[in-house]
Amino acid sequence: MVNTKDMLLKAQKEKYAVPAFNIHNLETIQVVVEAAAEMRSPVILAGTPGTFSYAGRDYVQAIVETAAQKYNIPIALHLDHHETFEDIKESIDLGTKSAMIDASHFPFEENIKLVQEVVAYAHANGATVEAELGRLGGQEDDLVVDDKDSFFTDPTAAKEYVERTGIDSLAVAIGTAHGMYKSEPKLDFERLAEIQKLVDIPLVLHGASGISVEDVRRSIELGVCKVNIATELKIPFSNALREFLVENEDANDPRKYMAPAKAAMREVVIEKIKMCKSENRY
Ligand code: 13P
Ligand code: ZN
Ligand code: NA
Repeated sequence: MVNTKDMLLKAQKEKYAVPAFNIHNLETIQVVVEAAAEMRSPVILAGTPGTFSYAGRDYVQAIVETAAQKYNIPIALHLDHHETFEDIKESIDLGTKSAMIDASHFPFEENIKLVQEVVAYAHANGATVEAELGRLGGQEDDLVVDDKDSFFTDPTAAKEYVERTGIDSLAVAIGTAHGMYKSEPKLDFERLAEIQKLVDIPLVLHGASGISVEDVRRSIELGVCKVNIATELKIPFSNALREFLVENEDANDPRKYMAPAKAAMREVVIEKIKMCKSENRY
């Protein structure tokens, strides 16, 4: 298992993005790594605090380590939207090499202080750190942000933020939101271009479910090297599972009823890898 430094810098140089898929259990991890390995795409498996409290940090760590040994592509386990130093430390101590510290709800100076603390511990342990400036709206697991509390990344502040924290990648708020969209999302590409001018580390696009291929590609042209996808994988998985169980009222074998759910999710993983242009990179 690797940290996300080299994979993101290679993506930055070659102008594609590494897809980060949110996973929840053995099945979703299998779908992502099997599809990525077949397509020769680097891949990031992202787990929110909610996922780790559901599945267990140790279990997830062990499954991803096994996956990373099995396939000859870079596979990273990444802590998504973690809000405390303690949770991140626990996973780093288990061997996780990539983490997002989400201090975006704090005022600027407090945000910087918490991120600095995480960066010091992570870097001392060979792990890389992503942090967010600005704030995405929408819902990601237990993280719910009202539209009125969301705000875009300020480019000048971003430059100072990156310099003072020493983070390895920066999550930007340019108009995406977590979950699907009620109305057509409108991304602020001028802002993204300005951020790219001032910040030289890889940029991260959260909330990519519901964003068009065209908009994602344009973001990649403007410095986005990691694209986070969660909701668009959950929907086909649960739809296919529900359909199967409704059509087969006596079905009770998880090895059977999980299969169509995995197949439906796999299609979206493949589509998103193509969207990110990350296939055949290794
Ligand atoms: P979506 O659910 O909109 O794909 O957002 C995913 C995300 O940003 C995970 O951090
Ligand atoms: Zn996110
Ligand atoms: Na979204």
